[in-house]
Order: sequence, then structure tokens, then C-alpha cells
Amino acid sequence: MTEEERQARINDAIEHLKAGQDPEKAAEAKRLAEEREKALMTMESNESGTEAARSRIAPDFVIQDNPNSHIRHVIGVVSGKGGVGKSFVTASLANLMRSAGYSVGIMDADITGPSIPKMYGLHGEIIGDEYGSFPMQTDNDVEVMSMNVLLETEETPVIWRGPVIAGVVKQFWTDVQWGNLDYLFVDMPPGTGDVPLTAFQSLPLDGIVIVTSPQELVSIIVKKAYNMAQMMNVPVLGVVENYSYMSCPHCGEKINVFGESTIDEVAGELGIPVMGKLPMDPAYAQNADLGICYRSEVPALSPAQEILAAL
Ligand SMILES: Nc1ncnc2c1ncn2[C@@H]1O[C@H](COP(=O)(O)OP(=O)(O)O)[C@@H](O)[C@H]1O
Ligand SMILES: [Mg+2]
Repeated sequence: MTEEERQARINDAIEHLKAGQDPEKAAEAKRLAEEREKALMTMESNESGTEAARSRIAPDFVIQDNPNSHIRHVIGVVSGKGGVGKSFVTASLANLMRSAGYSVGIMDADITGPSIPKMYGLHGEIIGDEYGSFPMQTDNDVEVMSMNVLLETEETPVIWRGPVIAGVVKQFWTDVQWGNLDYLFVDMPPGTGDVPLTAFQSLPLDGIVIVTSPQELVSIIVKKAYNMAQMMNVPVLGVVENYSYMSCPHCGEKINVFGESTIDEVAGELGIPVMGKLPMDPAYAQNADLGICYRSEVPALSPAQEILAAL
């Protein structure tokens, strides 16, 4: 593929985001728009995010709100490395807050490794109107926007360069009509690259949740994520330890698969709360694979629920 062709494809995909051009979908888009408009009439403020969160954004990085997005709290979910279950924790936090009666959305900002739609069994195309795209709704009424539902097939790899990917994250904010949300969870790609940087700089984040697993480097990984947030002036709400232990199916004994956890010490050193220690549970993986992640109850996240509800 030539560089020109590649650019054309990128532009195509981005156009996709802006509006559903298919006339057949116009009626559905109109219905959704009307529904949202009704809901929005009850809102007092037309800005998303808390004032404190907005005031942290440097003037150069301010991105435009969508007129039809009214989001009370924006929460980033980050991890130092991939495969620690960050997306599972993001979805579980969303499901927990949803079942507590809040309106909730997930922005899947892991553009090159999107896994949120699969966990909810979401397929199909995004529709939109002149104000932007509509997120998809999961069966438990969580609003989701992800690169995966914008691609031609789920197997299409996203092989774009950092700045282009970071641009998509901004579009997921500006060009998506999120409607009325109490919480928008942003599933960030792992590490400290272009996309987390853009999200930290541009989105009115109330704070971040760090997800980790109990392995040797946990102290370094958590501190790196913590320091990045500090440098960007974003509060760290706490840390979630995933794969914390496994319960023996026969006797219920807790087995520390990855060795003894040090998360309490690390969190204590940084002065941040532990928001939950999640077991490794084959039923969690199975429900996620089946696209019914919302059927899993994750009681270990109740400290997180309390912290989020208090924001
Ligand atoms: N606590 C857990 N118990 C069992 N399976 C889990 C758990 N956390 C995550 N998984 C599964 O492990 C896989 C990787 O998790 P995922 O959330 O996609 O990781 P990441 O987003 O950090 O790359 C997924 O199939 C997910 O369902
Ligand atoms: Mg993921």
C-alpha cells in the first residue's frame, strides 16, 4: 500500500466516525437524537466533566465538547503493561456503576487492541447524524464507542501511527454524542505512549484507576503510572489488583498464583487506596468470551464503587 492509499484509508475510517451516511439508518439516528434531546432538556450545565478536571487542561490541549454530551465524571483506566485485565476491570467498573443505577459509558481508547465490544457481544455499524456518531448500547445499557465497531471486520488490524491514533481518541470525545452520563470510563492502551498522553492532556479526567497484577515489577509499574498522572496533574483514584489470587474449587483455599501480593505496601507508600483485589476466576473469562461480561458479579470491586460514587 502506498502512503497515499494508506492516508486515504485513514481518512475513510475517520469519515465513518463523523456520520452514518446510509440513508436507511437516518430514521434510527433521528429517533436516537430526539430521545437524547429530551433527556438533555433536564440538564442544567452544558459542560462535561467537573470544573476541577477541566481547569487542569492546558489551553493548547482543550478539545471541543460535543453539544450532545453531558458527562459528569470521566475516569481513565490505565495499566503499565498489556494483559493484566485492564479491559475486564474497565467493563466490570462500568457494569457495577450501571447496576447501582448510574448512567455509564465506555470509551475504548485502546485503538490498536480494542476488546470492549467483544466482551459485550457488540457488533454492527455505528450510526450518526450531523452532530456526530451515537455510541452503541450493551444489553445492560452501557454506551460504548470503540474502533472495533468502526472497522470493516473485527480482524482488521489498525496499523496507524501514534498521532493518527491519538486523533481518533479526540474524535471519540468531540464527534460522539454520548448523551447524559454519570460516568464515562476510558479504557486506555497500556503504557505511556501517544494515546495515554493525549487522553491525559485533553480529556477532563476526574482521575485514573491503575490496574496491575501481582508480579515482580508491580512496584515499578504502578509507580510509573502514578508518576505520569502526577506529571499531568491528574489525580490517582486508586489501584486495582487483578489476578490477585485463585480460590481452590475444592477447598476454597486462596492460592497466590503469581506469588505473595505486595499491593498494600505499594499503595500505602504512594498514599492511594486499593480499590479491589480481584480473583482469577474462569467464569469471568468465559462470560467475557461469550460477550456477556455483564453477567459476572465482581464483588471485589466494591471499594472502587464507593470511591467512584463519592466523586
Ligand atoms: N480476574 C480475571 N479472571 C479470569 N479471567 C480474566 C480476569 N481478568 C481478565 N480476564 C480475562 O483475561 C483476558 C485478558 O484480559 P483483558 O481485560 O483483555 O486484558 P488487557 O485489557 O489488560 O489487555 C480476557 O479474556 C479477560 O476476560
Ligand atoms: Mg484491553
